[in-house]
Amino acid sequence: MYILGILGSPRKNGNTDTLLEKALIGARSKGAKTEKIVLNDLKMVPCQECKDVKGDGTCKIEDDFQETFKKIKEADAVIFASPIFFGSLSAQSKILIDRFQCAWRYKYMTQKTEGRGQRTEKKTGALILVEASKRDDFLANAKSIIKNFFATASLNYKEELLCKGLDYKGAVLEQKELLDKAFELGIRITEKPRKPSM
Ligand SMILES: Cc1cc2nc3c(=O)[nH]c(=O)nc-3n(C[C@H](O)[C@H](O)[C@H](O)COP(=O)(O)O)c2cc1C
Repeated sequence: MYILGILGSPRKNGNTDTLLEKALIGARSKGAKTEKIVLNDLKMVPCQECKDVKGDGTCKIEDDFQETFKKIKEADAVIFASPIFFGSLSAQSKILIDRFQCAWRYKYMTQKTEGRGQRTEKKTGALILVEASKRDDFLANAKSIIKNFFATASLNYKEELLCKGLDYKGAVLEQKELLDKAFELGIRITEKPRKPSM
């Protein structure tokens, strides 16, 4: 199994990164191969609203999105981890999500030509969110964006870890329960899906 972690925080070894690492350690404990993409290290321009996509359904803009898109397609499961910034996902996360417009367009075009019966097999998706406050509406907002993204990326929303009250770098290290939960999420994501999407 190949589990891909996507980090939307610019803070290395910050709260989101630590939780994502724990989840990936959990996945590796079950024999999975894991990889982490740090969006902040990539060169990825925001979506430019091109009118069309390449013949294979990928984006026309040549930057680090191409490789990231390929890895998401290849992964058996994806763990997306982002801090809450201004009540939503981080900008790094949102740039990647918007670039998936090519996949949305491609799906739409394929459905028009081949009919709605065509369904791609969905893989597993998990979400980790971290915020300083205890605002359920901020988490719900970010979660709804991720669910929309997962649907476009053919990922089933199966697991989540929504963390409140974590602000300074290292705050999560004092929350053993959250670290354990992240580890367990990583284990569960390696298992074959048994329950329907959340
Ligand atoms: C630009 C920015 C905006 C933020 N906006 C919010 C917010 O709207 N609500 C909130 O609860 N925390 C907010 N925070 C706090 C972060 O979510 C919090 O510090 C989190 O632990 C950062 O995770 P990280 O260590 O993984 O980067 C914001 C932080 C930054 C830098």
